[in-house]
Amino acid sequence: MKYQAPRGTHDILPDESSLWQLIEETCREIFEIFNYREIRTPIFEATDVFTRSIGDSTDIVKKEMYTFLDRKGRSLTLRPEATAAVVRAGLENNLISPDNLAKLYYVGPMFRYERPQAGRQRQFHQAGVEVFGSVDPLLDAEVIQMSVKLFENLGLKDLEVEINSVGCKKCQPVFRAALQNYFKENIKHMCEDCKQRFELNPLRILDCKEAHCQPYIEKAPAPIDHLDAECKEHFDRVIGGLGDLGIRHKVNDRLVRGLDYYTKTAFEVVSKQLGAQNAVCGGGRYDDLVEEMGGKPTPAIGFAIGLERVVEILKAESRTPKAEHGIDLFIATMGEAARKIGYDLVAQARDKGVSADIDYQGKSLKSQMKLADRIGAHFVYIIGEEEIKKRSAVLKDMKTAEQEEIAFDDLLTDVAGGECECGCDH
Ligand code: HAM
Repeated sequence: MKYQAPRGTHDILPDESSLWQLIEETCREIFEIFNYREIRTPIFEATDVFTRSIGDSTDIVKKEMYTFLDRKGRSLTLRPEATAAVVRAGLENNLISPDNLAKLYYVGPMFRYERPQAGRQRQFHQAGVEVFGSVDPLLDAEVIQMSVKLFENLGLKDLEVEINSVGCKKCQPVFRAALQNYFKENIKHMCEDCKQRFELNPLRILDCKEAHCQPYIEKAPAPIDHLDAECKEHFDRVIGGLGDLGIRHKVNDRLVRGLDYYTKTAFEVVSKQLGAQNAVCGGGRYDDLVEEMGGKPTPAIGFAIGLERVVEILKAESRTPKAEHGIDLFIATMGEAARKIGYDLVAQARDKGVSADIDYQGKSLKSQMKLADRIGAHFVYIIGEEEIKKRSAVLKDMKTAEQEEIAFDDLLTDVAGGECECGCDH
């Protein structure tokens, strides 16, 4: 029987993991420059944490969650996103309160039972941030700027920031009524999901991807035309802030996000290099969620970047960092006594921070040399019976093919590039 990775998941193999490390390190670096601190929450949460926050009428809650009962019959769900989990953790650990500005970030896997396709997996990874405790529109602009800066640092091009406002508790009912009024004539021609959304949450209709629904959606009223004065002013100031920061952006009045908790600012960063799943980052404000999850009213904003999509773009641009892996030193040995010495030298090398290895498969000298070449060893030190007698052996530089006789005792100083006594950096 041949085992395969579950549908919609993939293995990140050693040749690709250096690219993942680079992306994750860049995210952490930028987040920390902007004064965010890391939070790690469990991979699964009580199902309620997600159903309430993300919304009953969303695709995620309706059909995409990995939900199961544990042995005591408690309903648990693999996290489909991290925002709700961070709110839960922040409230449980008193990190979130109205007068404390909490800036948190996370990097990790998320799980959604979606139909796998390019840029869409069932296990995928996000790097994201959440800030709690400020209504300042300049914070919205700064959060968007941070995502753009991150992509710039990674060298991603052809990206566009799309932004919209979905209003607040006060203006959303007015807009909902305007949408129901607009769609009531044609809803019978639209897909089953839209029919349900019409009743439950007409704003979600704007998010429908069905081709035959698009002509009706195109002309539907836009949330930004129905904002109350406060939301309108907030939106204008976010746009102004983006302008001041020099962040190129486009107002997309059809942009509604796939999760229900958003208020006011909603944004995505989209790439022209991706297909249908073109958002590399999505986020927005969610000023009511903390209260809805049992905390004191605390405004919040955040985003999450889809790391698989970033990997895809960097690969398409052939901008993958060298997958080459190498070590500093390989010790090839002939005979038991030599192996014992080699084994000790490898241990000493590692203690000094020199990456080193030795054969563990009883290979011939020729095969050991081949192995050293394959694993990209910079130097090979070759020890046999003769070498034991003289306590020195040949050190071969595999890059230049130069060879030099080095005493056992001097090997590590040589390979580790020991400091010169005169204080120069030889
Ligand atoms: P989201 O739009 O559902 O938002 O996901 C954010 C990003 O995750 C997407 O733009 C996409 O790049 C990536 N993504 C989502 N689903 C998949 C998938 N199945 N396969 C591959 N990549 C995927 C959220 O998750 C919110 N929690 C973002 C947020 C944080 N809003 C406020 N704070």
